Amino acid sequence: MRVLILGATGKIGRLALERALADGHDVVALVRETSRLERREGLAVVTGSIGDVTVIRGALEGSSAVIAAVGPRSNTAEDELALEVGMRNLTAAMEVAGVHRLIALSGAAVAVPGDRKPLLDQLASVLVRRFARHVVGAKQREYEVFSATALDWTALRPPLVIDGPPKGYRLAGQLKFGARVSRADVAQALVDQLADTRFGRAAPFVLPKDRP
Ligand SMILES: NC(=O)c1ccc[n+]([C@@H]2O[C@H](COP(=O)([O-])OP(=O)(O)OC[C@H]3O[C@@H](n4cnc5c(N)ncnc54)[C@H](OP(=O)(O)O)[C@@H]3O)[C@@H](O)[C@H]2O)c1
Repeated sequence: MRVLILGATGKIGRLALERALADGHDVVALVRETSRLERREGLAVVTGSIGDVTVIRGALEGSSAVIAAVGPRSNTAEDELALEVGMRNLTAAMEVAGVHRLIALSGAAVAVPGDRKPLLDQLASVLVRRFARHVVGAKQREYEVFSATALDWTALRPPLVIDGPPKGYRLAGQLKFGARVSRADVAQALVDQLADTRFGRAAPFVLPKDRP
């Protein structure tokens, strides 16, 4: 499958890019700075901003799905707005192009209707929102944008992410207190969603696989 990846220069986006190529997908990466990605077979790099809908339309050509792994680089109102505008541009371009599948990297602190979070996690979310207001705000606004569309979206919400090898993950409707998951597992989960139809228009948490 040909897939457009946004945020492919980020920590998780890079791993998702590698995973998608390893799984045999053709990848188009829309990046702000071309020099930040090494060229290789199966990868096409488009340079431009998510703030430019024409650039997104061009990058989308021929793709069947999008992985949006963009995250604010700073805790500022400017980055918060840039992400919201970027998601508006992306979803509008997808609707015009008839590309329906959107897999978004979201976060456990993002509030979703019907959420089942342990009390301590709810308190943690309050603290995160207090100290990283625009970071959480950006991801919340992004969620509000794509969840209001008719697209076939899935938002993956990892809790605390850590480095390290993939150890296996599971997608769950309920957050587990203190859970942490590796970036590699989150990247794997993003790519696995290209073929998984079980989480359409849902925002599961990405948790480490339960040990037997
Ligand atoms: N526990 C949690 O809640 C949790 C955990 C992990 C991740 N997340 C979410 O997932 C996001 C991504 O994680 P990460 O660690 O991979 O982030 P990261 O390393 O900071 O990468 C952010 C990516 O977004 C891109 N980006 C940022 N602003 C942009 C803009 N205005 N236009 C175009 N691209 C832009 C960056 O591009 P440049 O390279 O050009 O800057 C980069 O590719 C996080 O920001 C967070 O929101 C949440």
